[in-house]
Amino acid sequence: MSDKEILILGIESSCDETAASVVADGRKILSNEISSQIDIHTLYGGVVPEIASRKHVERVNQVIRKALSDAGAELADLSAIAVTYGPGLVGALLVGVSAAKAISFASGIPLIGVHHIEGHISANYLAAPELEPPFACLVVSGGHTHLVLTEDYGKYEILGRTLDDAAGEAFDKVARAVGLGYPGGPKIDRAAREGDPESIHFPRGKVDGSVYDFSFSGLKSSVLNYLNTQDMMGIEVNVPNVAASFQRAVVDVLVGHAMEAADQRGFKKFALAGGVASNTALRTAMREQCERRGIAFYCPPPVLCTDNAAMIACAGYYEYLKGNFAGMDLNAVPGLAL
Ligand code: KG4
Ligand code: ZN
Repeated sequence: MSDKEILILGIESSCDETAASVVADGRKILSNEISSQIDIHTLYGGVVPEIASRKHVERVNQVIRKALSDAGAELADLSAIAVTYGPGLVGALLVGVSAAKAISFASGIPLIGVHHIEGHISANYLAAPELEPPFACLVVSGGHTHLVLTEDYGKYEILGRTLDDAAGEAFDKVARAVGLGYPGGPKIDRAAREGDPESIHFPRGKVDGSVYDFSFSGLKSSVLNYLNTQDMMGIEVNVPNVAASFQRAVVDVLVGHAMEAADQRGFKKFALAGGVASNTALRTAMREQCERRGIAFYCPPPVLCTDNAAMIACAGYYEYLKGNFAGMDLNAVPGLAL
């Protein structure tokens, strides 16, 4: 490890992953420890906030220790501690924020608060060391669907967002309705490979007067109605066909809006981010459409698309360079805006 490297410890606990990571100079991952709670929440068909908080408390210290030891680093080597302080589940966020504050207070290492979505976008810097702003980014996760222009590090213009369900939420709800269970996204992705995406027509949600905004609640209701009708008629549902047709509708809307923005605004670079960015069909469609237009396409590997702390350390690095530090009054902000 060179003396000049700036090491940031990232901590993430906004939902159901307890994660810590050490990143050097904002772009080099030295460790990336992720403790998933999926097994526990699967029993309940979704994330139970109280259980999530309790599991974060149990695991946060071990995860941080492991991240430091995997990186071959000690607290004294760190330049800053970056932690997700919103948006997310308040009780879950509080665990990471409290751990980061305690370590910062005890060691004197500066503290940095990071926006979770900014973290997701920053995962692209880890996967593509040559990537610099400006670039457009489609952020699709369990809680968010945003079409964003990253103008500069930490500077964003929001072009569009979902007015109801997030894309990942729609995946999770449809998966539950067809009996695939939680978490729905990866299960729909897998089932869809065996199905015909043209077999059932589901609506492509449009928002009047706002070309870049999204709406997925109509699509979700349409799938639920289809399932009910089949059930009433005593027809067995073909799960792969429902999964493939639903996924095609989501991908059409996401890629359609993204490319409309690209055509109108003339973007040269387009990135994907968030848990749903690990979706095979979405990655393929975005890559094809970007290539057709001569737009450079970026997409992190799946492990950096879903929640992790390397992306938080990366976003924290650029705040560190600007001297944007947080005080001991840093608090969890569940509805934090970008
Ligand atoms: O970014 P993330 O880990 O957490 C949030 O910040 O929300 O995203 C989780 C979401 C879940 O809704 C999950 O079903 C979805 O990402 N997801 C996927 C895939 N992998 C995860 N959705 C579609 N296809 C996938 N392969
Ligand atoms: Zn996330």
